[in-house]
Amino acid sequence: MRVLVTGAAGFIGSHVAEALADAGHEVRWLDSLTSAVHDGEPPYIPNGSSFLRADIRDSAAVTDALDGVDAVFHLAAMVGLGVSLADLPLYSDVNVTGTAVLLDAMGRQGVGRLVLSSSMVVYGEGAYSCREGACPASAAGPVRPLPRDVADLEAGVFDPRCPSCGRELSVSRVPEDATLDPRNAYATSKVAQEHLAANWARLTGGSCVALRYHNVYGPRMPRDTPYSGVAAIFRSALENGESPRVFEDGGQMRDFVHVRDVAACNVRALSACGSWVPPGTLRAYNVASGTPRSVGEMASALAEAFGGSVQPKVTGEYRLGDVRHIVASPKAAACDLGFHATVDFTDGVAEFARASLRAPTPSSLRAPTPSSLRAPTPSSG
Ligand code: UD1
Repeated sequence: MRVLVTGAAGFIGSHVAEALADAGHEVRWLDSLTSAVHDGEPPYIPNGSSFLRADIRDSAAVTDALDGVDAVFHLAAMVGLGVSLADLPLYSDVNVTGTAVLLDAMGRQGVGRLVLSSSMVVYGEGAYSCREGACPASAAGPVRPLPRDVADLEAGVFDPRCPSCGRELSVSRVPEDATLDPRNAYATSKVAQEHLAANWARLTGGSCVALRYHNVYGPRMPRDTPYSGVAAIFRSALENGESPRVFEDGGQMRDFVHVRDVAACNVRALSACGSWVPPGTLRAYNVASGTPRSVGEMASALAEAFGGSVQPKVTGEYRLGDVRHIVASPKAAACDLGFHATVDFTDGVAEFARASLRAPTPSSLRAPTPSSLRAPTPSSG
């Protein structure tokens, strides 16, 4: 098939474009190479006509890029979490308006298959249950935790509490039908993208697979900026000879999934569009390794793979906007897409410790530090 990958010069997009080419598809790369992300042309983008430089909000350029295309992989987006209120207009503009422009152009060009890069951030806090036998919530299934309380965080109590009995909750794996609860500008824009794509599918008879990535890591991840994921921040610290700073108590759980697995899942999703996922519908899938790890474990594994001379430091700091745990059920992707992650955590981290990261650009380094990072107040005793 002839496919268009938007955001193809980015960390995940470039791996998706390469995996699609390896699977025999004819790949058109589209990227704005925005100076906020790229310091010039990355070496891995192809020469010649298969690379198009354009902004996803540029309707005429996007329409041209879709000429003769059978399917779109949409990854062009502002990433990270959004570190301040001032980020809202840009996240909405690039991620929401950009997606709307793309979908409109796909409708006009008659392109009926879409694989949308979404994120686990659409869920907000993960899935929890109360194990306190006497609590009415314990028999009622999933529990929505109370918002994290500064007093708890200051006291080093990081696990969310049950709204009924106030006890700490147990974490469960989040399924795709969990309530969406976006907590920041980026998350909100991802929910909006999914809704817009579902709308497009209904109106045009198109078919969309939305892939909700968990914590993706691997080669070409952008280096440490206020918008980077934790794996890149830890890796950058080690490279500078500094200890990775592990916030909270390091016990917060995530599912770290390797970027090559994510790319392979995208290739599988294409086969599902129009077959398993029928015309007129959108189906969303968690894309995860299925083996949760704590943030502390990621820091230790990376430090070890980096040579072991610098060890992580558990700081007790916290960011109010963070969720405590979010781990996925990978069952639906396994069942419907036949996707199983294959990169082993230890092998993936060992490779990541030595892989090249994408250099930060001067403008990304000027971005503000998250205002919500707090160190616990020292006790006076
Ligand atoms: C991350 C991404 C999010 C993406 C999602 C799924 C960022 C900022 N977040 O969300 O965009 O959609 O994965 O791929 O890109 N931490 C430390 N030390 C640090 C920094 C962070 O211990 O120096 C901790 C945080 O407190 C948090 C955990 O690491 O508990 C994960 O942080 P992070 O990777 O920033 O955000 P996610 O919520 O996992």
